[in-house]
Amino acid sequence: MRIFRDAAKLQKWCMQQKRMGKRMALVPTMGYLHEGHLSLIETAKKNRADEIVVSVFVNPVQFGPNEDYATYPRNEKSDLAKCRKAGASAVFLPTPEALYAPDHSVYVNEERLSTGLCGARRPGHFRGVCTVVAKLFNLAQPDFAVFGQKDFQQAAVINRMVRDINFPVEIVVAPIVREESGLAKSSRNTYLSDAEKASALAIFASLRETAGAVAEKGSVPWKSQKARIVRKLEKAGLKVDYAEAVDAATLEDVKTLKPGNAVLVAAFAGRTRLIDNIIV
Ligand code: PAF
Repeated sequence: MRIFRDAAKLQKWCMQQKRMGKRMALVPTMGYLHEGHLSLIETAKKNRADEIVVSVFVNPVQFGPNEDYATYPRNEKSDLAKCRKAGASAVFLPTPEALYAPDHSVYVNEERLSTGLCGARRPGHFRGVCTVVAKLFNLAQPDFAVFGQKDFQQAAVINRMVRDINFPVEIVVAPIVREESGLAKSSRNTYLSDAEKASALAIFASLRETAGAVAEKGSVPWKSQKARIVRKLEKAGLKVDYAEAVDAATLEDVKTLKPGNAVLVAAFAGRTRLIDNIIV
């Protein structure tokens, strides 16, 4: 497995692979890899990648000033071991300085799908995500890139970026990987105390109840479902950041929840912000 820290060297190697006709996959991550990330690598294999490049980079540009950039969990040694075991061909581990010039001044901004949900609560977040993902696409030259459904809005925003500025990259979205308890795997779960972890179970439980109601009735008014979700999360001791129901393609709000819609939740367990979603 190759390890690159230098952007130009990664790009050169990837270009060589492309010229040899290899099918290239990119798995962008912020590291502290867990089974959710490893499932993205598995998805890359299933999609017949010849070479899989995993990027491990905590991207400062997508964090707000009061967010957890400094404390975001990092473990390079374990990440490398996991990538090797999972069958990655190359890992890209740049420093912020290796990726952003001191006078970096070009950003990619998606202006529609990124305005609500997490975008409304985390100003600048998707601008940072789009910018770094665009850079990674130009460096790794992937035929396809794999993202997790857990970041549902992120996948939609990236798809829109690819469409609207014509990246020759296919976006593959892999299903959410959960703990046995139902809690969606996340590097941020490491922040949770046992009590917070127990409270956090209410998130998926409430999403599943809503999916159950749609499965049973065909369509249900969102207002009453939302009230039920919020009640359940608050009762579990969580602070609800949002609970929204949207059209899965446009991310526009829906008033009546129908099969195929997405329900998305963000909630704080203590100081940790957790997100989860379900397609009903
Ligand atoms: O989903 C993530 O981990 C990040 O937002 C990504 C896509 C790696 C960009 O930094």
